[in-house]
Amino acid sequence: MTRVLVLQGPNLNLLGTREPHIYGHETLDQLHAGIAARAAALGLDVDFFQSNHEGQLIDRLHVRDFDVVVVNAAGLTHTSVSLRDALTGISRPFWEVHLSDPSRREEFRRVNLLNDVAAGSIVGQGSRGYHVALEQIAQRFGGRP
Ligand code: DQA
Repeated sequence: MTRVLVLQGPNLNLLGTREPHIYGHETLDQLHAGIAARAAALGLDVDFFQSNHEGQLIDRLHVRDFDVVVVNAAGLTHTSVSLRDALTGISRPFWEVHLSDPSRREEFRRVNLLNDVAAGSIVGQGSRGYHVALEQIAQRFGGRP
């Protein structure tokens, strides 16, 4: 079974109360419950990790106990060479997801250090973006045999 790590970056633990006009009212736990249900239906094995700390996100990637990553790097998308290096360094494909569409927001969010090396990039679809990523992963790597 394809093992997917869903990696969530800084401030995503605040979902539900964080700028709901941009990110919606769903909490991170609710978001993860929806992802887990979709993954089960697709026959994918899924694990979750959220951190507000760049090094912890990088350390989690180094464990390499997964086949594919779905990552919302949040603000680190626009700043972190180190997270990009970790994602390219572990020899696992990754899909990048953003709840909002950063390219339609402030100028500084137009810098994206991940999307040119991502296998897929899904933006601006809210929590559905994670489901779309899982569907593309199941199609590419196979889900339930
Ligand atoms: C985000 C977009 C980023 O620009 C922002 O820093 C976030 C969330 C999104 O999901 O839309 O924290 O990644």
